[in-house]
Amino acid sequence: MDKLNKKIQEASHSGAKLCLERHDGKFVVTKRVYDSIERAEKSIKKQSEFNEMRTGAYKICSIPVSTVTRESDYLEFTMPFVDGIGGDVITHKGNKAVADSLRVTLNGYLLNALSRGKEEIVPGEIFAKKLVDIKANYAERSPVVLEAIESALQLSKQELIFPIGYCHGDLTLSNIKVTLDNKLFLFDFLDGFIETPLQDLVKLKQDFDYGWSFRHENPNLALKGRMFCESAYPDMITTISRLYKKEVELLELVNLLRIAPYIKSSDKITQNWLDKSLSKNLQKN
Ligand SMILES: Nc1ncnc2c1ncn2[C@@H]1O[C@H](COP(=O)(O)OP(=O)(O)OP(=O)(O)O)[C@@H](O)[C@H]1O
Ligand SMILES: [Mg+2]
Repeated sequence: MDKLNKKIQEASHSGAKLCLERHDGKFVVTKRVYDSIERAEKSIKKQSEFNEMRTGAYKICSIPVSTVTRESDYLEFTMPFVDGIGGDVITHKGNKAVADSLRVTLNGYLLNALSRGKEEIVPGEIFAKKLVDIKANYAERSPVVLEAIESALQLSKQELIFPIGYCHGDLTLSNIKVTLDNKLFLFDFLDGFIETPLQDLVKLKQDFDYGWSFRHENPNLALKGRMFCESAYPDMITTISRLYKKEVELLELVNLLRIAPYIKSSDKITQNWLDKSLSKNLQKN
């Protein structure tokens, strides 16, 4: 239990405090958030209101929220501990059958989210404002990052039509868990500056195209991760990206660029990862 608790606490990178406890014989995870409390409240609401979804493979659920407590300087919520394998670990432990199930599940998820969205014209200024903020808060000044900011600013000047509606908001592999009874649990939802299913699509690309979740792994595990992602690649990503070409291009750049101001100057791995991912993205488009 102590070991598990330590693992859970170490897994958090957002500044939130996570703790695993036993209540009435059941394992409970408590998450306490100190920053952006209003936003955290909206994110928890998304988690509690998520409607279960059947797909051709795993059933998609969210980890239920049991209690929410708001104090003046933090927001705390509890949820049951879900004993499953994290999406990031799956990339080096999962076999072909798991990769197939994950692909089918994520395809169903993306299609379902897209079908619930309503198309709206979105003013490019909301992206331009984000990009200007990123530039102002980005101290490293890598030329690739600066080039990507300019490229995204250009894209933001076009007419943009987004499907607006439900999204998880931070759908990286580290925010999902697959259990033995064939369920895929979502958690760590995020309230975003734009609520669009394309947000989940670009977050999945962050892992499936660029290997975000295993960037720190040794070359052997990273290779396994890339191979797994190749066979688990949800082809809906490609189909939907064709339908919303410039919107996905822009959102993908903004999504990657938003990481830039948060990278510590000592974290060379993430700096290189971002440079490489942006270069790949700029060449492709
Ligand atoms: N209810 C739960 N059951 C099982 N494991 C959990 C649960 N909640 C969190 N975890 C574990 O703790 C890790 C961190 O949790 P979470 O993603 O909510 O925190 P975070 O601080 O927002 O993380 P990050 O910013 O790194 O995404 C998860 O990746 C997961 O492994
Ligand atoms: Mg998380």
